[in-house]
Amino acid sequence: MSNGALMISLQGISKTYLQHKKAFHALQGIDLSVQAGEIFGIIGLSGAGKSTLLRMVNLLEHPSAGKVTIDGQLLHADQGGLLRGVRQQIGMIFQHFNLLHSQTVFDNIALPLKFAGWSCSRIKTRVEELLALIGLTEKRNAYPSQLSGGQKQRVAIARALALHPKILLCDEATSALDPHTTHNILQLLQEINQKLNLTILLITHEMDVIKTICHRVAVLDHGHIVEQGNVVELFIHPQHHVTQRFVENYMGLQLPEDLKQRILQTRSEKTLPLLKLAFRGESALRPLIAELMAHCGTGVNILLANMQAIQQEIVGVTILMLQNPEAEQNAIEFLRSLGVRVEVLGYVNPVH
Ligand SMILES: Nc1ncnc2c1ncn2[C@@H]1O[C@H](COP(=O)(O)OP(=O)(O)OP(=O)(O)O)[C@@H](O)[C@H]1O
Ligand SMILES: [Mg+2]
Repeated sequence: MSNGALMISLQGISKTYLQHKKAFHALQGIDLSVQAGEIFGIIGLSGAGKSTLLRMVNLLEHPSAGKVTIDGQLLHADQGGLLRGVRQQIGMIFQHFNLLHSQTVFDNIALPLKFAGWSCSRIKTRVEELLALIGLTEKRNAYPSQLSGGQKQRVAIARALALHPKILLCDEATSALDPHTTHNILQLLQEINQKLNLTILLITHEMDVIKTICHRVAVLDHGHIVEQGNVVELFIHPQHHVTQRFVENYMGLQLPEDLKQRILQTRSEKTLPLLKLAFRGESALRPLIAELMAHCGTGVNILLANMQAIQQEIVGVTILMLQNPEAEQNAIEFLRSLGVRVEVLGYVNPVH
């Protein structure tokens, strides 16, 4: 976990590309701080600017404006030697693994060590260490074509860690893998984060990845960070519509289209209130609905419900309709007094 020291700092980062002779702003005004030892996730739709953002961190590409500071060192484009040194502190893995197909597992992992001028015996010791870390000692002489996707990504991780980096950048590292293999790789990332106190900055378009291993998260949309913070908070109270869509899709919280059409924004005598409840920790385990019915004198129609364990915490979201229109205010106050977040989605006329 994070020890409070700043490892990555982006300040006012913008990136403008020329597309068909017109300026295209891929990133605008990005401020981002990642603490040492943290797993920080960036989520966004395709084209949001995620890969561009990641390439700013190791200065694979240079920002059009703004400052990149890595482990206290301000980076500039014209710092040749220093930049190489800082880049050695940063490993990177990709969606399609980027292994050399003509080389064995051993040689793929050894590559950065050879470039760095290590002796053969030091290389051998280090590669064996890394093979043990990723659990692929037996595959040292295999070629990438003889490995599964998950194994290939393990090799790519070992190669990225060869020079003891402080930071690992992951660009959609699990997007080409099935859910089971994805979880294995995420588990490995979590292990190396803890064992090596490695700072991990990962980008993804999958909420599951964020939920499973990230401590904090930022949402990127059209080149802007539209929301960032604690992962559990993001699930409980997503603010921006892009984040709301990610959470709703992940939690399976889409109401049927015909019901959606019938939601009114103002109440009348006959309409029934439609509430969205979000709760965490202890309140997720209470018999909330039974208490609500007893306390507020209303029947409750549960339309959708989902509960998730997000890291160590339980988070639940329920969408329900109160059967007694009079009970709305009372119910909201009662639920809020229990620490439940309540949002009125609207009102539905039961006579259709
Ligand atoms: N070298 C470039 N020249 C011009 N435009 C570029 C360049 N690289 C990226 N872009 C544009 O910047 C935008 C963001 O691209 P980027 O690859 O960062 O998105 P992304 O969020 O990683 O998407 P995906 O999830 O599909 O990988 C896109 O509209 C893309 O066309
Ligand atoms: Mg990308």
